[in-house]
Amino acid sequence: MKKILITGATGQIGSELTPVLRQKFGGENVIAAGHKREPDREILGSGPYFALDVRDKQTLQALVADNGVDTVFHLASLLSAVAEEHPQRAWDINMNGLTNILEIAREYRCAVFFPSSIAAFGPLTPPDNTPQDTIQHPNTMYGITKVAGELLSDYYHHRFGVDTRGVRFPGLISHKALPGGGTTDYAVHIFYAALTNKHYDCFLKRDTKLDMMYMPDAIQAAIQIMESDSKQLTHRNGYNITAMSFAPEQLAAEIKKHIPHFTISYTIDPIRQSIAESWPRHIDDSTARDEWQWAPQYNLSATVKDMLDKLSHRIKTNREVV
Ligand code: SER
Repeated sequence: MKKILITGATGQIGSELTPVLRQKFGGENVIAAGHKREPDREILGSGPYFALDVRDKQTLQALVADNGVDTVFHLASLLSAVAEEHPQRAWDINMNGLTNILEIAREYRCAVFFPSSIAAFGPLTPPDNTPQDTIQHPNTMYGITKVAGELLSDYYHHRFGVDTRGVRFPGLISHKALPGGGTTDYAVHIFYAALTNKHYDCFLKRDTKLDMMYMPDAIQAAIQIMESDSKQLTHRNGYNITAMSFAPEQLAAEIKKHIPHFTISYTIDPIRQSIAESWPRHIDDSTARDEWQWAPQYNLSATVKDMLDKLSHRIKTNREVV
């Protein structure tokens, strides 16, 4: 990794991966690309930024060719709930964006990181200790694009020798940028509500368990898999990774330890509830642990403590949340 392109750089993952990679590899060597014309100051001020649509292959290609890009973190994607509202658009952005990236990577010999998701599983998948290799038959457009993305990334590796790698992220908890329309977003919104209103109205049922991870672990996973010796990787794409699994009532109880007056109510959104029920409750990530020494640092209590510290500071100092 010497010259890196990040698509979706202004999104939930990108806005945290970009500064970490710039710190590590030098600001000028990490090109951020996103759909926003005006990204936040941190991204604009620390290295190159280009506003682009990943469906625009010509612009993408010029960016890679002109800058000698050797690694792409392809994060641009619509998330699960918004993809159910706009399924054709989700297919267009998620699949045509990835196809463009893989084709360009083939031509310019770039390595590609592709984030898949627990959404790549479906109602027929064993929901507990979900194995690395199991039934993948999602019934959401987002999940369909994630399975197809895993397969396409594998295909470009064995057919054309492109160095593709990726993980299945669980719900990601972070305080810098809000997620854009996912099913696991409640686990981010609840912190904002706890610190401001001391009350949160949750759109998932109290006992709906899902895998989750704090953003620093997700960033570590993305970098670690790209830096692993490729000989260690038998799967390459779609490695199960998780850090914890909890239901809304467990997260609320942990927040209550810090904010005793915090309360939670439940008004179920049927679309997001049915998406959540089609996903595993807890995946088995032992393959990633064995093959590239994946080891998360944050469990539920460490995540809640750090989120409340960082977010309350952000709210007090009025720093923008993007
Ligand atoms: N966090 C994502 C979503 O809820 C899952 O990959 O859509």
